[in-house]
Amino acid sequence: MAETFYRKILCIGAGYVGGPTMAVIANQCPEYKVTVVDVNQARIDAWNSSSLPIYEPGLKERVERVRGRNLFFSTAVDEHIAEADIIFVAVNTPTKTFGEGAGKAADLQFLEKTARRIKENSTTDKIVVEKSTLPVRSAEALTTILHSGRNSVRFEVLSNPEFMAEGTAIQDMEHPDRVLIGSMDTPTGLAARDELIRLYSKWVPRERIITTNLWSSELSKLVANAFLAQRISSINSIAALCETTEADVQEVARAVGKDSRIGPKFLNAGVGFGGSCFRKDILNLVYLCEHFQLNEVARFWEQVIAINDYQVDRFIRRVLRSQFTTLVGKKVAVFGFAFKPDTGDTRDAPAIPICRRLLAEKAHLTITDPHAIDSARRDLEGLEGLGGQLSFAADPYEAARGAHAILLITEWKQFLDLDYEKIFDSMEQPASLFDGRNHLDHQALFDIGFNVHPLGKPSLVHI
Ligand code: UDX
Ligand code: ADP
Repeated sequence: MAETFYRKILCIGAGYVGGPTMAVIANQCPEYKVTVVDVNQARIDAWNSSSLPIYEPGLKERVERVRGRNLFFSTAVDEHIAEADIIFVAVNTPTKTFGEGAGKAADLQFLEKTARRIKENSTTDKIVVEKSTLPVRSAEALTTILHSGRNSVRFEVLSNPEFMAEGTAIQDMEHPDRVLIGSMDTPTGLAARDELIRLYSKWVPRERIITTNLWSSELSKLVANAFLAQRISSINSIAALCETTEADVQEVARAVGKDSRIGPKFLNAGVGFGGSCFRKDILNLVYLCEHFQLNEVARFWEQVIAINDYQVDRFIRRVLRSQFTTLVGKKVAVFGFAFKPDTGDTRDAPAIPICRRLLAEKAHLTITDPHAIDSARRDLEGLEGLGGQLSFAADPYEAARGAHAILLITEWKQFLDLDYEKIFDSMEQPASLFDGRNHLDHQALFDIGFNVHPLGKPSLVHI
């Protein structure tokens, strides 16, 4: 059976990147055998069950369509390395928390372990594809490890960064703006690149597949994320100015975004960006710049993060001001915990520092989220010790009952359809609503009786 496949693909790392990417490749390319391995047994068991380890619209259908046919999930890392022709490396590269570069540099221990394992288990030549986001020139380190010692196997390292966003991962993979492939400019490097082009050409128009040298490809991923995050910090900085001048940040964003040179996307002001990429990649960029003594460049990008943290701080101070500067013993309902809608992911979610600050004010928090309650519970474990109280409710009506304020942190569409009159009647008065994402109809809420505090616009307050 295995012999009938054109190529055997292996992906090491069954996380947010590896899982959805491979599900799409297996669906689009039935002639390729795609195996995803991970050292985490529970995660692999979940991929093999009806309850996948991550929530992503369209993912389950795609996994179920091809699982057991040309898509497999396993913990047998070594034996699958041995049989693979193309190995995608999608292990995590978190920000280092210790030693040199702590808090900024990428922690490459999982990448290095993976490289050594590939080397030890390979007896045939292979293409190794960097899928994880890595500092520029990581491919050099990868190549050095792979070719160390006596092994005569040849490895060709390519960079093929992932640009998909959570919540739209499947759509982004199936209809990408571009696919980027970086390779060495050598005959074997170009041949490996062509092999990957052949794979993506199964469903991506050829003109959308961009090829560059390895270092440009590695750096482009960091730069794309830095530019996106920078737009968010730019509009958030303007939101602060709007709140003090009675300008409306959404009107400003619309007016500015109509300029075709600027464009309308990624100009939604909010409580700040979260997710596993933006902060990590900018810190990584800052670290790289410092390493090369480009201190002015490092300071420039650092400000993107500083404004993001400032946004949370401003939000909390606004809540406190409206609550007569005290939250002690007051119930506060937190609507949404995931870092964005349509995902259960809470990595670096603004909700985490927001809840921490509220607990330190001794508030009684009740958190509701359609997909992230379990993660929220883990993220906030032990933080009651700060002085507040913490509970979780699947039902937003229950979360809001008896609350002095609702804080909308994630713009789930489920929050649009709630009966806000019923919610208002169940709350302590005066009832406040802080819309951290400008998601709801503020005038309608004000008419119901809420004191409404949108972001980057004047508050609507009953006197
Ligand atoms: C991002 C990149 O978009 C993607 O290309 C890359 O591969 C991985 O990192 P992701 O983190 O999944 O994707 O989500 P994204 O949609 O970019 O949102 C990131 C954060 O920015 C979210 O917290 C979101 O709420 C926030 N955001 C986004 C804003 O605050 N305002 C906006 O206008 C857009
Ligand atoms: P990402 O968002 O980059 O996909 P995740 O943390 O969701 O990050 O997934 C990375 C996965 O890589 C994790 O499931 C982790 O267990 C796995 N992983 C890390 N190191 C190794 C390794 N050496 N071999 C196999 N899997 C690994």
